[in-house]
Amino acid sequence: MKQDREAAVIDIDHLIAETFICQAQWHGELPSTNTRAIELAADSKIATPFLIGATEQTAGRGRGSNRWWATGGTLMFSVLLDMQSLGLPQVEWPRFSLGTALSVAETIEAFLPNVAVGLKWPNDVWLGSRKTCGILIEQSDRAPGRLVVGIGLNVNTQFNSAPEELRSIATSLAGESSQQFSLPDVLVRLLQRWEINIDQQRNGEWDLCRLWSRLCVLTGRIVRVTSATGELTGVCLGIADDGALRVAAQGETHHCYAGTVRPID
Ligand code: BTN
Repeated sequence: MKQDREAAVIDIDHLIAETFICQAQWHGELPSTNTRAIELAADSKIATPFLIGATEQTAGRGRGSNRWWATGGTLMFSVLLDMQSLGLPQVEWPRFSLGTALSVAETIEAFLPNVAVGLKWPNDVWLGSRKTCGILIEQSDRAPGRLVVGIGLNVNTQFNSAPEELRSIATSLAGESSQQFSLPDVLVRLLQRWEINIDQQRNGEWDLCRLWSRLCVLTGRIVRVTSATGELTGVCLGIADDGALRVAAQGETHHCYAGTVRPID
């Protein structure tokens, strides 16, 4: 765990100069960058986009009740965003969530042009058939127009000490390429890519469906979607313009806006 500590030290001034981030903090250790960002969300002195990162997390959180496991080679950060300042009304948020994953995927492609990068709705990024990035988007009740976007990207992550069940389903950029990557470099490139996609989304120039379909790992597969309203099994038809997952089942096309999906074929 210790070997990547130095590699994760981020030059805050450089980060602010090179990206759309206005204010940032980097910690050696935090329970969870998302939890801290949510605590800070209602503080009007925090200028957004505000980035909070940590070299290690002691209570990293995943979607639902999942935990996020990581070692020191993992890039872990959260960005607090004021969605009105970004020019993205609430109706655009589902597409924004998918676009965040797309930005990660496009960034990885630039570093690893020969590895198959994939997107699993709503916002997991895969390398080959394994997950390499998870994204957790949350809202604070006290600051409803602000979103916290937490990103965990397995860059140089080693899975030797990972729980058994994770080793067969997770991977890292280093694991797929036998190279080591600079975490600050990956972070800056990712934020730059993300800003381009946000600008295009705001300007209405963004064909998310087309961009997503190139990388979608579920299209054409039999999937099971589990949500608060039950389970749906059918063939994935990709995404709709508004970001919903389209699933053909029982002679109809269903549009799913929430839930967990997994391929079962
Ligand atoms: C998932 O795939 O379930 C989402 C994982 C999100 C992990 C990141 S790591 C940085 C941020 N802080 C957290 O506690 N979680 C997110």
